[in-house]
Amino acid sequence: MSDSGKRVLLGVTGGIAAYKSCELVRLLGREGARVRVVLTESATRFVTPLTFQALSGNPVRVDLFDEAHESAMGHIELARWAEQLVVAPATADFIARLAHGHADDLLTTLCLASEAPLLIAPAMNHRMWLHPATRENVALLESRGVEFVGPEAGEQACGESGPGRMSEPEEILGRILSGPGLFAGRRVMVTAGPTREPLDPVRYLSNRSSGKMGFALAHAFAREGAEVTLVTGPVSLPTPAGVQRVDVETALEMREAVLDAVSGQDLFVGCAAVADYRPERREDTKIKKSSDILELRMRRNPDILAEVAALPDGPFTVGFAAETGGLLQYARRKLEVKGVDMIAANRVGEGAGFEVDQNALEVIWKGGRQSLPFQDKATLAQRLVELIASVEGKD
Ligand code: C5P
Repeated sequence: MSDSGKRVLLGVTGGIAAYKSCELVRLLGREGARVRVVLTESATRFVTPLTFQALSGNPVRVDLFDEAHESAMGHIELARWAEQLVVAPATADFIARLAHGHADDLLTTLCLASEAPLLIAPAMNHRMWLHPATRENVALLESRGVEFVGPEAGEQACGESGPGRMSEPEEILGRILSGPGLFAGRRVMVTAGPTREPLDPVRYLSNRSSGKMGFALAHAFAREGAEVTLVTGPVSLPTPAGVQRVDVETALEMREAVLDAVSGQDLFVGCAAVADYRPERREDTKIKKSSDILELRMRRNPDILAEVAALPDGPFTVGFAAETGGLLQYARRKLEVKGVDMIAANRVGEGAGFEVDQNALEVIWKGGRQSLPFQDKATLAQRLVELIASVEGKD
């Protein structure tokens, strides 16, 4: 295979999932990768260095201050040697130390000293994974370009159930060996979030879009090698690694930002919840409460997605449809009326769609239809990106 001979430095931290990493070393070896293993002190309580030594065919390191090893292959040499760093399993403590730049053992020191891409396979109790401290540490690492695989939801060694199981070795292997990505060399523009339509200097009309789905899509496209431009309304989300972000407020600003940069894009994904109408007048001073009834006149906003779809030689266009009922019917109509290539429809209201971390989509295009079941938005975005790649490739 093309990646055979890849120099992989595998870090193992102290969790029960460490036993699965033995299998990962075996699979990597079968693919022709060269593997060196570093254990943290607590990992040695779960698996012995000897196990990994036998499987990798190389000496295993634990201690930063190991004279014998430092004179053979010092830690800086080891950091330079690695073409890919993988930490599997990664505990909450390890993720926290890495996020904050600690170098208090051999593995964290290697991660700081190496410029190789870093893939992390977390494994921990689901409450620890969902704790805001861990969430923030993961987001911080992602914003620096660190990749994560898993964790998966399911039954845990502690007897509880939830997201925290380490991904299976085959899945981690796939991520380590995956090629340049489905959208390598392609340009993708994504719109996300709500728009704000001002009434006066202090008030605006907006909607409940959190931007999560659009940001997850931008992230997934970037991971698949695309050059991503993310045009977003006001949201409180960190910019995904490697994504170029353009912040806007109103629908008219979003339209301008999109049309400014749309030429040369291969794909346009309109995920923003663009306000359909804006107040006809934006008052220069704060509107006073003088009468019992206040009437607002609203003007229709331009449909950004339809405009992009109508461009001669425009990109492949994907639109979203958020509906409270009649999902497929409305989605089909939208496909035709807006002249787009694909529509991803989701049900909103009653806890689904907006402001939540999970979603499901019904995706339709001229030649077909696919349901993407209820799952977290990051995984759903990845599935949609894969589906777009397969449909767009045939277009
Ligand atoms: O017509 P509707 O608002 O339901 O269509 C939703 C789709 O159209 C989304 O992809 C959204 O980003 C896009 N849209 C747009 N400009 C508008 C309204 C919607 O790009 N003014």
